[in-house]
Amino acid sequence: MTDQYAVIGNPVAHSKSPAIHAAFARQTGQDLAYGALLAPLDGFVETVRSFQRQGGRGLNVTLPFKHEAWRLADRHAGHAHAAGAVNTLVFDNGRTTGHNTDGTGLVRDLRDNLGCTLAGKRLLLMGAGGASYGVMEPLLLERPACLVVANRTVEKAVALVARFEALHASAAEGVAARAYAALVGQPFDVIINATSAGLAAEMPPLPRGVFADAALAYDMVYGTDTPFLRRAREEGARAADGIGMLVEQAAESFYIWRGVRPETRPVIQMLRERP
Ligand code: ATR
Repeated sequence: MTDQYAVIGNPVAHSKSPAIHAAFARQTGQDLAYGALLAPLDGFVETVRSFQRQGGRGLNVTLPFKHEAWRLADRHAGHAHAAGAVNTLVFDNGRTTGHNTDGTGLVRDLRDNLGCTLAGKRLLLMGAGGASYGVMEPLLLERPACLVVANRTVEKAVALVARFEALHASAAEGVAARAYAALVGQPFDVIINATSAGLAAEMPPLPRGVFADAALAYDMVYGTDTPFLRRAREEGARAADGIGMLVEQAAESFYIWRGVRPETRPVIQMLRERP
């Protein structure tokens, strides 16, 4: 019988995951089907269990259920433990394992697709919601010079930075939480937008002049040219959207489920040509 997988979320109809995983399956010759599951906002656990009872092998989890998925998992693997959020579930002999592949996806896109190594670089992460929690550990394991987290609500950035205290020594010049206004005069080599501002065509209140020479601006939002990316280009930085991260996190989930690593470049290309 064909192995069943799906992405679960609310809303979920817009998700590109079914197209991405179908492309991976074709490319690697894996016999699997991948659908989309709309869970009621108060019915996440029931929807997961029903999928599992019907023989489902694994799920990708998207908004707003990544925290609930963490609580549902019997155990956490990889970066999920530190992130407190899960985007990949594996069902195996009645046990549910939760993984988080978002940060691995981001780091792979930066490093392998965009040629941007993070070691020794000054990193700025904007936002302190779920998207930021998912990427902190993988970013710090790359050993940047420093990692500054900026958020409108500064207390949320302080709480985020505190959660990853065990990894602070990975950044030689430290990990810190800041208000946006406090970033003036501190140029960054890589600025990552993990806020949801771009979805509303808004931009975090990033002061001017914080892009270092040859800086990279990365927006986790994809499929739209966000005000942040436009500003980055205006200030001479290189700008990248989150399509590569989306495909790389999917590839990591696929590898966890199937033990086979798909080629991501043709799939990124496919999504750019047919958004
Ligand atoms: P999730 O946990 O699903 O990622 P969230 O907790 O609502 O969602 O987080 C969204 C992030 O985007 C937050 O960091 C939010 O900043 P606040 O914590 O100050 O609300 C940030 N965000 C959303 N819109 C923004 C905007 N227009 N400018 C700056 N930050 C914004």
